[in-house]
Amino acid sequence: MLTPDELREIEHELSHYAQPQAATIEALKIVQKHRGWVSDEAVADIATALNSTPATVDAVASFYNLIYRKPVGRHVIHVCDSVSCWIMGQTRLSELLKARLGIDYGQTTPDGRFTLLPICCLGTCDRAPAMLIGSDTHRDLESVDAARLDALLERYP
Ligand code: FES
Repeated sequence: MLTPDELREIEHELSHYAQPQAATIEALKIVQKHRGWVSDEAVADIATALNSTPATVDAVASFYNLIYRKPVGRHVIHVCDSVSCWIMGQTRLSELLKARLGIDYGQTTPDGRFTLLPICCLGTCDRAPAMLIGSDTHRDLESVDAARLDALLERYP
């Protein structure tokens, strides 16, 4: 069940659109802001609120890779795996991150601190390889080493 705050915020978004389904991505973002991720139950509740269907809402959620359909850690690390970053050392960056965090892509550290996910181009190809930690973009990671990576991760307790 959506909370009163979630419903109020979704209804506010609905006031901007002629068709309720047009507010699907905003509704997903609202629920994720409150809960950290969007469960199947929440998808169904959003569908009801938007006079839509769970399949339609799920299709939108699946399209946007910043909507999480499973629980994630406090900080989500998205490593760009598109071509410019790949050429500039994304594989090395990924392997270093996996080693430092002790997890693979799609996993969360046991302390719930970090989730590691791939993402397509972040639009900063001229400063590849790049990654997001939360909403922060980190660039120029071609020569990052373990010490620099640890210092970066320390900024996200
Ligand atoms: S390819 Fe990685 S930022 Fe564009």
